Amino acid sequence: MTTILLTLMFLFSVQYAISKGFSEEDEYNFKSWMMQHNKQYDIEEYYHRLQIFIENKMKIERHNGGNHKYRMGLNTFSDMTFDEFRSSFLLTEPQNCSATKGTHVSSKGLYPDSVDWRKKGNYVTNVKNQGPCGSCWTFSTTGCLESVTAISTGKLLQLSEQQLVDCAQAFNNHGCNGGLPSQAFEYIKYNKGLMTEDDYPYTAQDGTCKFKPERAAAFVKDVVNITMYDEMGMVDAVARLNPVSMAYEVTSDFMHYHSGVYSSSECHNTTDTVNHAVLAVGYDEENVTPYWIVKNSWGPFWGMKGYFFIERGKNMCGLSACSSYPLV
Ligand SMILES: *[C@@H]1O[C@H](CO)[C@@H](O)[C@H](O)[C@H]1NC(C)=O
Ligand SMILES: *[C@@H]1O[C@H](CO)[C@@H](O)[C@H](O)[C@H]1NC(C)=O
Ligand SMILES: *[C@@H]1O[C@H](CO)[C@@H](O)[C@H](O)[C@H]1NC(C)=O
Repeated sequence: MTTILLTLMFLFSVQYAISKGFSEEDEYNFKSWMMQHNKQYDIEEYYHRLQIFIENKMKIERHNGGNHKYRMGLNTFSDMTFDEFRSSFLLTEPQNCSATKGTHVSSKGLYPDSVDWRKKGNYVTNVKNQGPCGSCWTFSTTGCLESVTAISTGKLLQLSEQQLVDCAQAFNNHGCNGGLPSQAFEYIKYNKGLMTEDDYPYTAQDGTCKFKPERAAAFVKDVVNITMYDEMGMVDAVARLNPVSMAYEVTSDFMHYHSGVYSSSECHNTTDTVNHAVLAVGYDEENVTPYWIVKNSWGPFWGMKGYFFIERGKNMCGLSACSSYPLV
């Protein structure tokens, strides 16, 4: 009896799946991915997400079958459309990042062929995860200030993104709705300090400001902008001084990045389209393609342990449109 019932149920579910146009293999792949990424849905949502997953998977396989310098792969975003991804994780409004004349002064060179601040000492904190909040700019800011402070003092602190989300509004920042590292450095400079991650933990939501001046742990004496589109200025700063905060435009292909040197014909290259801020921690070259080594804030399981490479020397996706770093 039970067997018959189970068989009927099985046939019914197969029938249901077929009627929705999904193969057993599709469902098997999707369920494995769900387990791996801890995802659960109700039945309606399940089929909706399965459809999107299959489309993403096909896009990834098409890309990987072609001749590209980077590979795509399934990741925690594989059940989302790019529109959903953009509204949860990216800056959705144009930011005021046009430093027509920055104050960074480049030396005459020569520069090393490769630089990686992760290997120079204990200067770069672990990759963090911004979650569904447009707070990339706070992670780019803390990442840069953590490194600059560590290079200067020898102490690697974990600094608070949430303080920037909650408190930096007077400097044109908008919490989970966006902001810019240069404006966040200005806030830290005039506010007189940034607390640690432990003292002011991250919630991935807008909140009220709970800054305690007596708990400030890191400080900014001044903010240095690199003149927009001066990518050699970024090389100079990263080679000689410290990691640099940068922003660029994320397009739908980037959401599936897995490894290798990213380049795109989909993205634009001007200040008005940048929608994501990150941290350049070094640069290198692979089979004559120069690239940046970049720390992202989408957790350690995205990309290459949370990092990605992006082509260098072409203002790829506007990556030299608005870069900056603090003086401590
Ligand atoms: C850009 O700057 C203007 C003038 O300061 C301000 O009104 C506007 O809100 C800023 N835009 C963003 C996205 O911060
Ligand atoms: C740096 O650029 C930002 C815009 O991204 C601007 O608001 C700020 O005034 C500039 N700072 C300096 C020191 O030039
Ligand atoms: C943007 O890309 C176009 C087309 O490749 C190029 O002509 C232009 O100089 C680039 N602009 C900047 C600011 O990099």
